[in-house]
Amino acid sequence: MIVGILDKLFGRSKSKEEPSDNSSNDSSASVTKVAIIYYSSTGTNYQLAKWAEEGAREAGAEVKVMKVAELAPESAIASNPAWKEHIEATQHVPEATLDDLEWADGIIFSAPSRFGNVPGQMKQFLDSTGGLWFNGKLVNKVVSAMSSASNSHGGQEKTILSLYTTMFHWGAVIASPGYTDPVTFESGGNPYGTSVTVDDDGNMKEEVEQAVKHQAKRTVQIADTINK
Ligand SMILES: Cc1cc2nc3c(=O)[nH]c(=O)nc-3n(C[C@H](O)[C@H](O)[C@H](O)COP(=O)(O)O)c2cc1C
Repeated sequence: MIVGILDKLFGRSKSKEEPSDNSSNDSSASVTKVAIIYYSSTGTNYQLAKWAEEGAREAGAEVKVMKVAELAPESAIASNPAWKEHIEATQHVPEATLDDLEWADGIIFSAPSRFGNVPGQMKQFLDSTGGLWFNGKLVNKVVSAMSSASNSHGGQEKTILSLYTTMFHWGAVIASPGYTDPVTFESGGNPYGTSVTVDDDGNMKEEVEQAVKHQAKRTVQIADTINK
């Protein structure tokens, strides 16, 4: 009964013969593949994503940086010059697809806080993963998340935990930075994922580049281990 309902919602159900883990995590895989998926209105999380890209590449991964689709109306974007400028400056960045999630062994998300929660644009993307989830394609993906907010206690940690909630349901493996490197202390000390405070002019108040790179490398290392 329940499977029938899920079939209607998400398509073909998983057959008993199919493995429940994602197919990209087989022993023939050599280079760990990392998808970095972000949402950003004014560039902060794009910058975090770019630093994560560098860190993941340095750790030997094949990396793709992608944004989620913008859903805000044109009028809202036009009312904020920094938002409009950022959208124009990132036209070249591809939009993430479900195939990218299936491709990746590790996935690093970055999203600004919206009242302590995940932006609707990112949530919409996550909500489109029902079919992958139902067919076991997100099991054992190694995931990690980053965030930003205007205030130093404006919801960064909660936003990261909100992102992870979906991934617990996927059966993903959360690769949080914890306090595994001194850079975490130097960047604000968020063990859930690197986060930053950003002022109205888009300036970051903490030095987080090295913490982002450490988080990305750790994500690759854990994905490497699971991928063996
Ligand atoms: C609708 C909305 C809600 C927000 N809520 C908060 C909030 O509760 N606390 C906070 O410190 N910042 C809040 N912000 C500020 C954003 O988190 C900040 O602009 C963002 O982190 C910048 O990241 P970006 O440059 O990648 O867009 C909010 C912004 C918007 C547009």
